[in-house]
Amino acid sequence: MFVPQWIIEKKRDGETLTAEDITAFIQGYHSGSVPDYQMAALAMAIYLKGMTFEETAALTEAMMHTGALLDTAGLSRPVCDKHSTGGIGDKVSLILAPLAAACGLAVPMISGRGLGITGGTLDKLESIPGYRTDLSEAEFLRVVDEVGCSIIGQTATLAPADKKLYGLRDVTGTVPSIPLITASIMCKKMAEGLDALVLDVKVGRGAFMKTPEQARELARNMVRVGEAMGKSVGALLTNMDIPLGHTVGNALEVRESIECLQGKVKGPLWDITRELTAAMLLLCGRASDRDDALEQVQNALDSGRGLEVFRKMVEAQGGNPAVCEDLDLLPAAPTIETVTAEASGWIADVDADKIGRAVLVLGGGRTKAEDGIDHAVGLSELVTPGQRIEKGGTLYVLHSRDSDRRGEARRLLEGAVTVSPDAVEAPTLIFERMMPEG
Ligand code: URA
Repeated sequence: MFVPQWIIEKKRDGETLTAEDITAFIQGYHSGSVPDYQMAALAMAIYLKGMTFEETAALTEAMMHTGALLDTAGLSRPVCDKHSTGGIGDKVSLILAPLAAACGLAVPMISGRGLGITGGTLDKLESIPGYRTDLSEAEFLRVVDEVGCSIIGQTATLAPADKKLYGLRDVTGTVPSIPLITASIMCKKMAEGLDALVLDVKVGRGAFMKTPEQARELARNMVRVGEAMGKSVGALLTNMDIPLGHTVGNALEVRESIECLQGKVKGPLWDITRELTAAMLLLCGRASDRDDALEQVQNALDSGRGLEVFRKMVEAQGGNPAVCEDLDLLPAAPTIETVTAEASGWIADVDADKIGRAVLVLGGGRTKAEDGIDHAVGLSELVTPGQRIEKGGTLYVLHSRDSDRRGEARRLLEGAVTVSPDAVEAPTLIFERMMPEG
């Protein structure tokens, strides 16, 4: 007989749960026979005692099977996606999905909203006038088939137990648990009907995982779970001590993404996007080696095919494709001010955590899932560590609407950018690559 408290007690005492224990508990939670308080107790026991790999894999499968699986069998190309554990200025998905599609992959990308200081792909895309993130499953598959990629929000039918459990973890101090994060991310990705998946596991001040050791453990766990479910999975551990790119804030990040697809952006944003897209080609067997994959991605950018796919995706999802030429169609904030360097030198540090908090208080992020956001606010022209700066040169441009919020953001931004009189090396962007061939 299934008695929920016996399973909670087992985990509380550090024992290993069976796949049957886990499946019964998750099905009970999904159907409503296991109440929130028992699920919260089990989540806390898992947070404190951990889970073996086999338990984590069973939890992933159980959560995945609380919903429908996306039927991608009709797609003629290899089906691949990317997942990022979330960061500040992380707009990679907007550039990578069309580029991967331009290189011959099908990318059915189901993304999230920003929560806390990390931004969300859906919020960014919704700053494009008319863009719909709520396509039906049939519409979603049609866009992937016709365009090569589509980016939408979580559907009600995909791993519904995760949505419920994530909300509960958020208010019970049980988010930062490696088995719970692994199962939460992988149950949604594995329900997408993928052949392959690349994971961008962020490390640093602006990320969930603050140290490379934690990030490595999370990445290994996710890769193993995906492989055990028969998928080709790789991971990159990337730097989130500093924001990614020169913009933070929804519409500003769309602007930078389109500029990147126009071939106008060099540096960390392009380097990481190119590496992750190349990893997708490798995982799908579409490139002979990393150099070949990187070259294919560069060609997709240089030829303008990536931008063309982006334009078609925007149009297919109800957005105004003219945004690809006229960036002024994106929402803009009424007050724009430039913050400059007081002395010449080299940019030594740009604190992702402070910048993420500042953009949130400007109105660009939310503290509760149901909050609305201001797409126009944020930072642009943000410098990056290792860069030379002259006295009076721009450190960043602040885009705001409301003077109280602006004042608070300015306070949070004090000391966010540090200038050194001595030359500073650019920080490492990619700490580790975990790919099947090593
Ligand atoms: N993202 C998710 O989807 N789930 C987690 O638990 C953490 C990040």
